[in-house]
Amino acid sequence: MAKYLVTSALPYANGPIHFGHVAGAYLPADIYVRYLRMRGHQVLYVCGTDEHGVAITLRAEQEGLSYRESVDRWHAEIKALFDRFSIRFDVFSGTARCRYHAEASRRFFRVLLERGWVTERVEEQWYSEASGRFLPDRYLQGTCPECRHETARGDECPSCGAWIDARQLGDPVSLVDGSRPVLKETKHWYLDLPGLRAAGLDRWLQGADPERPHLPWKPNVEGHVKAMLKDLQERPITRDLPWGVPVPEELEGAEGKVLYVWFDAPIGYLSATMEWAEDQGEPEAWRDWWQDRQTHLVHFIGKDNIAFHLVVFPAMLLGQENAWDDRPFVLPYSVPANEFYNLQGRKFSTSGGWYLDNEEFFSRYSADAARFHLALTAPETADSEFTWEGFQATNNSLLADKLGNLATRVIKFAARRYDAAVPASDGSLDRHPTLAEADERFAETGDRLSRNELPRAARALIAACDSLNQFFDALTPWKLAKSEDSADLALCGACIERCLAYLELLSRRLRPFCPDSSDRLRVMLGQAAAGGGDLWGEEGAGQPPAHLPEGAALGEAEVLFQKIDEETVANELERLARRGGRGEE
Ligand code: 2FM
Ligand code: ZN
Repeated sequence: MAKYLVTSALPYANGPIHFGHVAGAYLPADIYVRYLRMRGHQVLYVCGTDEHGVAITLRAEQEGLSYRESVDRWHAEIKALFDRFSIRFDVFSGTARCRYHAEASRRFFRVLLERGWVTERVEEQWYSEASGRFLPDRYLQGTCPECRHETARGDECPSCGAWIDARQLGDPVSLVDGSRPVLKETKHWYLDLPGLRAAGLDRWLQGADPERPHLPWKPNVEGHVKAMLKDLQERPITRDLPWGVPVPEELEGAEGKVLYVWFDAPIGYLSATMEWAEDQGEPEAWRDWWQDRQTHLVHFIGKDNIAFHLVVFPAMLLGQENAWDDRPFVLPYSVPANEFYNLQGRKFSTSGGWYLDNEEFFSRYSADAARFHLALTAPETADSEFTWEGFQATNNSLLADKLGNLATRVIKFAARRYDAAVPASDGSLDRHPTLAEADERFAETGDRLSRNELPRAARALIAACDSLNQFFDALTPWKLAKSEDSADLALCGACIERCLAYLELLSRRLRPFCPDSSDRLRVMLGQAAAGGGDLWGEEGAGQPPAHLPEGAALGEAEVLFQKIDEETVANELERLARRGGRGEE
């Protein structure tokens, strides 16, 4: 049994999250966590909302809400969507609501400062005399120093894509009050990434730190990290903002300054674990996860977060060496960074109307169908997309026809022919080649899940259903049952017993993807599926499921997945086009 600390990127509490986020960093983690638990591993799954930084302050100001009101609102909404998807965290906190967060972040900062990994610098920054405040980059607009585009943002040019040093912006205007800002000196603190790199980060990244092994990085992760290391510089980790974790007040010049959101956000994983530990009545239990060499720390993120999880946060953790007690912090063991997930040919955009309305969606379709489809199309190695036609095909052809229908026809047959109980089996079909194929596909499902290869795991599960359908069709139990020959009748019993035993196995292999349907399938199987639903078991790869107890009562067959008709899909496409304004693409 191993120990896994799994995190999903903390979503910004500044707007709704959409299916694209779910498919990238949340559902894959939830499926992985459920799988690991079924395998008997010890798992803690941590998340929360990212509630500081300019993304939040800008949004709250647009909404006319206080920062606190705004993050509270979005925190609740985001949490509700995760509930709809049956994504179950052990703790879902938030960086402005977690009672441990500010102190933990300041402690990180102080340790780094004491050890010389953080240094202070005075430099010029735009200041609005009208509002009496320094202006973060995104609060500025001006001329791009590269392409002369006139409405570039302080951090980035929308026209040529250049990263801008805000001080180079021509004719800057404050977006807060429309005034012309002036350059004024201010103090900030910088994280010495090159120093931390030499002190151990590099060694660890290359897999050469025997104390802290990790899986080989995915190619997209490796590429990003290499690019970042080419030009690794000290980075400012404080900002002039009225909202965030205040810089420790004992420092001169700390007033009005907060920690940079990307400094405090990943500490949110740790502070949420502290909150969880306290809620368990064991306030120190967070150490068993964060300071135990046995822990496998796994960060599920989108590709835009790679640098922070592979370079910045590990550097911050390394820089804490022995400061919290004599045990160091763990570093990531694996970072499944996914690509982007789009909608019907375009990027998801809430403001542009190009999204799926969460309320509407769940009033019409099941979470399990959505989960399975998102798993099947997850952006594991390349960008991918949700299309209504694709969702319909997954739901109708795979889930309803191949999986749900298999279950109903077997259970209905057993109801009619065997009085809704498991028939006797003479074991004659136990080594049937088609069942051996199903064994292999079920084994592959587990293999793929253990490596976070969701689309391939989902396909293997459906391939197992294909084999089981072929088995049922090839044996023609409906004909055997009418035969006068006792050998035929015995074969019929053996066939149905195998089908039921494989359905029980299917209910467990399906469970990480579709927990609710797994439960329902187990209810349909009645006593034949008594207990053990949360255990993965060793079946597969030549290990067929054990015989079910003869006579065990079955439950009633029901429809696991409702079909979606053509008209419904057409309506969805029309609704999307109306909202998104650009017709179908
Ligand atoms: O990109 C984002 O949505 C960030 N809020 C992710 C933060 S992940 C973590 F480090 F907190
Ligand atoms: Zn430009």
